[in-house]
Amino acid sequence: MKKYILLSGIVALSVISIQSCKKDKTDPDADNKLYSEATASGFTKYQNDTLLSAASPSPHGSFKLRFNSTAAAALDSTGELPSGNTFPYGSVIVKDVYNGTDLKLYAVMKKDPSSSNSGNGWLWAEFNPDGSVVFSTGKKGDGCVSCHSGSPNRDLTRTFDLH
Ligand code: HEC
Repeated sequence: MKKYILLSGIVALSVISIQSCKKDKTDPDADNKLYSEATASGFTKYQNDTLLSAASPSPHGSFKLRFNSTAAAALDSTGELPSGNTFPYGSVIVKDVYNGTDLKLYAVMKKDPSSSNSGNGWLWAEFNPDGSVVFSTGKKGDGCVSCHSGSPNRDLTRTFDLH
């Protein structure tokens, strides 16, 4: 009998720890919301929708870049965020990553410092074109922030100094 109690205790504990671990690393509701925002209409295209080659140290490959209207409002007449400026809350930046002519991935940043998922003030996520999650907002930019903080960056964005 004691054995069973011990065994079920161990099973219960591992279920709890697996669930709390999952809870820390993924946030399906926040991911769905961000995917909808990233695939909505009304985005401003960077450099006339040009397909740009990834610049070192980018991990992503060729891409196009677009900004929602909140983010676009912070761009100057050349379409860039002036050095030293910051994006307003609610800014969404989507990097459409391509494999040849095929869209392969959405890499997304959203300025949302009040979110419990934010990493250095931004939400960070990656999605397949069908919306399945590659990198959840629940990870709080773990692995993204360190590279995006590299010099030079403009409010943690890297494109303007490289392209
Ligand atoms: C090793 C460095 C590195 C890592 C790690 C990295 N990025 Fe980037 N990222 C870049 C660079 C460099 C650019 C500039 C565009 C380019 O050349 O690809 C960029 C551009 C972007 C952009 C367009 C806005 C901008 O910064 O110019 C988004 C959105 C983005 N990355 C999302 C992410 C997400 C989400 C992650 C983590 C899952 C991530 N990145 C991880 C280097 C990195």
